[in-house]
Amino acid sequence: MPSQLNLILIGPPGAGKGTQAERLTEDFRLPFISTGEMLRANVKEGTELGKQAKQHMESGGLVPDELIVAMAAERLDQSDTEDGFILDGFPRTTGQAEALEEQLEREGRRVTAALLIDVPDTAIVKRIAGRRVCVKAGHNYHVDFDPPKHADVCDQDGSRLIQRDDDRPEVVQKRLAVYHEQTAPLVQFYEDRGLLRRVDGTRTPAEVHNHIRALIATLKLEDSI
Ligand code: AP5
Repeated sequence: MPSQLNLILIGPPGAGKGTQAERLTEDFRLPFISTGEMLRANVKEGTELGKQAKQHMESGGLVPDELIVAMAAERLDQSDTEDGFILDGFPRTTGQAEALEEQLEREGRRVTAALLIDVPDTAIVKRIAGRRVCVKAGHNYHVDFDPPKHADVCDQDGSRLIQRDDDRPEVVQKRLAVYHEQTAPLVQFYEDRGLLRRVDGTRTPAEVHNHIRALIATLKLEDSI
């Protein structure tokens, strides 16, 4: 099997994971797998999974591991992940990281790197307050930092831009607390495996993107030696 590029994006809510994943998926022609997007699609369609996930998402809590692990495992088994994948928002707990590691090991695959997009809590609140997403495909904008060409209209598919239900200030505080408690331990998890790469997420989206591309170029070089 040719070497795969299996990337995980870790970071607090609003760190810019989705923004970067969108760019990286174009650079490397790899599927962008966002568990948040998958869950929002399930909620919209009113599936059984969506019904179970909705209340956890609206309150800023995590959807239980057993539901997420099954959903992610099924997605990762699809043939478009043959050359690799970009995971955004999964894993998010140590249990999920262990389940992913076991699944990949069974399939003779492994995580190439876990990219931590680091942004302090103070910057997060401003980012999330100005975020707008399109109703059709969830493309991301920011009213100040990354505005669409025409107010409230998606540049990519022309659909309407809205605020996410879980972007209300009180829910954002809960999401940040959950991140520090349940997701931050993954930094050590991937550091212990020599897979963690840190990225300063306070820089502009273009600068963050360039830094990540340089990291990936180094990883590819290391892999080919
Ligand atoms: P999810 O959709 O994954 O949300 P999140 O992790 O909270 O991340 P966000 O989408 O809020 O932020 P982001 O880092 O992608 O930032 P973005 O690029 O948009 O999950 C939602 C919910 O689903 C969870 O709360 C949970 O309930 C559930 N869930 C999902 N996965 C789960 C799992 N594995 N286990 C359990 N539950 C799960 O950027 C934010 C804004 O900032 C944008 O407006 C953007 O334009 C702007 N911006 C981006 N980069 C920059 C920059 N460098 N400078 C200035 N502005 C920037």
